[in-house]
Amino acid sequence: MNNAGFLKKIGVFSPSVAAGKRVLIRADFDVDAPKGRIPDDLRILRVLPVIHACLKAGARVRLIAHRGRPHGTHVKSLSLRPVAKYLERALKRAVPFVSDPFADGAERTYEPAPCLLFENIRFWPGEETNDDAFGAELARWGDLYINEAFANSHRAHASMVALAAKLPAYMGPALYDELRSLQLVRDKPKRPLVAILGGAKLETKMPLLKQFLKTADAVIIGGVLANTIYAFEGDEIGKSRSEAVPAGRQDKSGLNTSSLLRSKKLHIPSDVVVVKSLRGSSRRTVKDIESVDPDDYIVDIGERSMKHFSELLNKAGTIVWNGPFGYTEVPEFARGTKMLARAIARAKAISVVGGGDVIAAVGAKTLLRTVTHVSAGGGAMLAFLTGEKLPGVEALRR
Ligand code: 3PG
Repeated sequence: MNNAGFLKKIGVFSPSVAAGKRVLIRADFDVDAPKGRIPDDLRILRVLPVIHACLKAGARVRLIAHRGRPHGTHVKSLSLRPVAKYLERALKRAVPFVSDPFADGAERTYEPAPCLLFENIRFWPGEETNDDAFGAELARWGDLYINEAFANSHRAHASMVALAAKLPAYMGPALYDELRSLQLVRDKPKRPLVAILGGAKLETKMPLLKQFLKTADAVIIGGVLANTIYAFEGDEIGKSRSEAVPAGRQDKSGLNTSSLLRSKKLHIPSDVVVVKSLRGSSRRTVKDIESVDPDDYIVDIGERSMKHFSELLNKAGTIVWNGPFGYTEVPEFARGTKMLARAIARAKAISVVGGGDVIAAVGAKTLLRTVTHVSAGGGAMLAFLTGEKLPGVEALRR
């Protein structure tokens, strides 16, 4: 495959450049950590190979990452301490936790440490404003820089952009894999291309939906996105969550929201699972969408829709999926989403799946066994697939 599109003037990291150096690795450790435990560790697992490679090459590793959106203030619940503990177990070595990398003398204190992790970099305001002086402060900690944070590469933040300009900068192997897999789906999909979009945030997903309605052969919609379309069409959705449909602006091709949502390529569940309360123990009933009552919650897709979607997926050459199909916060309502994952596993297509909610609902281990590529990125995956340039990748070009 021609990689020139995203690799032009970018060096992919190789261990030989790290020998004896201090390596700053920007990782994406934006993971949930209830009570200090990390149920979904996919994002951390993705960074371990490059850490191992650097350590083996005799480099000293300095890890920079964020959790959540503290917007320049210290928020204890968003500390990266649980990740430092996780790393100590995974790497079988001490991983000192630098709670203030900008404190006087911090750099000297930690100089000999082979591997260390900084506190959540978004605790400092300079990160999100891409402050140049903040990038320079970070650069003092390293001799070279690796971006191994695909999931944050759509953010023009200091540890992604300002810092990358100050040191020899490389693309990490996991970032390379992400871009290669997503580029294939975006630019050279094996036909038919079936796109699956679920979850919420229609406004954010609208550009991707528009693009897939032009480039894909079928677009399957579920979750809150489907509820939004039912409501837009005037169907009763009871107490189910839906969103405002963005105003009917026309795009360059003259399409507006309502004509897009009525496209023949669009496949929306015709039957749904409803409940009267959002407890997992609630009695589930399958109804045609036309029969939903005002006191119903739509929580999953029905069998007939599943069968129809499975048939589409069976014929697919490429499948790309972002966003769950039910109210998957409650495991009992994740059945449709899990069945969809099984249907993708049975299909002989190249498949790319992303978004934290799908990964949480189906399980990273299951997905890694059954699909061609599991993307660690949510927003970054959407941005790349819609053709946006990722600032964190652009910053690596020389
Ligand atoms: C993500 O979870 O998608 C990344 O870590 C980026 O986080 P953000 O959406 O808070 O910028």
